Amino acid sequence: MSDHDSNGSNISKRNNSYSGCSKYSGQSSQGSYLPLQAEIVDIDVESPNTYLISLALPSGVDFSYKPGQFVMVSVFGLGECPISITSTPTRGSLQLCIRLAGRITNGITDSRIGDVLGIRGPCGNGFPLDRMKKDILIAGGGSGFATLRSLINYIVDRRDSFGKVAVAYGARTRQDLYFMQEYKGWQQAGIDVSVTVDIGDEGWKGNVGMVPALIDKFNLPAGSAAICGPSVMINAVASKLMARDFDHSDIYVSMERHMKCGVGKCEHCCIGPYHACQDGPVFTYDMVKEVL
Ligand SMILES: Cc1cc2nc3c(=O)[nH]c(=O)nc-3n(C[C@H](O)[C@H](O)[C@H](O)COP(=O)(O)OP(=O)(O)OC[C@H]3O[C@@H](n4cnc5c(N)ncnc54)[C@H](O)[C@@H]3O)c2cc1C
Ligand code: FES
Repeated sequence: MSDHDSNGSNISKRNNSYSGCSKYSGQSSQGSYLPLQAEIVDIDVESPNTYLISLALPSGVDFSYKPGQFVMVSVFGLGECPISITSTPTRGSLQLCIRLAGRITNGITDSRIGDVLGIRGPCGNGFPLDRMKKDILIAGGGSGFATLRSLINYIVDRRDSFGKVAVAYGARTRQDLYFMQEYKGWQQAGIDVSVTVDIGDEGWKGNVGMVPALIDKFNLPAGSAAICGPSVMINAVASKLMARDFDHSDIYVSMERHMKCGVGKCEHCCIGPYHACQDGPVFTYDMVKEVL
């Protein structure tokens, strides 16, 4: 995933922003400052270094969220880090997909069922579903697919509210693909799903290559797009979409930055004039293309 700390870059000014935390974000009744104590109720293995963790919040807590938002997850004694919400609000669960990166993510995945994590949020803006067109292209690369799963399953559960929907997803190898058991259900919901791996093997009969190559396979009208992944992938997918008359302001990109506070106070996550934690993590392509 992209990871530039780009204070001072010459990117679009705030008046170009569609965002605004208060307008788009959900909020637990505790707000974004106090961690809730969430109990781990299930752990699934998604790939050799990635785990899908299901959490139960204390009873009576109203934790409403939108696809594309994230939470600040704390492991007591180790620290706190931002993690996308990978479940959909339409199913009443809270799931996180954790890829081992370092101290805190190791701490999260070392936890067992019954252990408690701290959860602050939901944070950030999420995808602006009320502004997005009904025909949607979703493109993900690597672990960036975790946040897109929330949007995909939201669309599956609200299928009548959307038009043509296509998913393009790529990972390094087939072992690195997330949520494989869900693709069939997405296809049964009328979503065009195309998956690729960088490196094929004997057991893989599907596409080998990069995500942007999948875009050519779709017969999708110019609508909205939701993209998360490495910068090179985002730029290549966006170029292909704009060549197919997608407007750059209809292309939404979920950005990753180093974050500390998650609430717009510490300045760790600045992208030019924006705080990725509050104005993002979802931006229109024209807002962030210069730092990708
Ligand atoms: C909005 C947002 C959503 C995220 N969603 C998820 C998710 O759903 N699942 C998931 O596993 N991870 C996600 N991440 C990344 C996750 O926050 C980092 O992997 C985590 O902070 C690493 O902390 P650590 O203590 O485990 O590792 P550290 O020891 O702090 O770092 C290990 C390595 O990861 C790099 N790193 C740390 N933070 C980031 C970051 N934000 N972006 C890129 N590289 C980073 C460090 O530079 C270092 O090289 C998300 C990050 C953001 C900003
Ligand atoms: S993490 Fe965004 S300002 Fe602190």
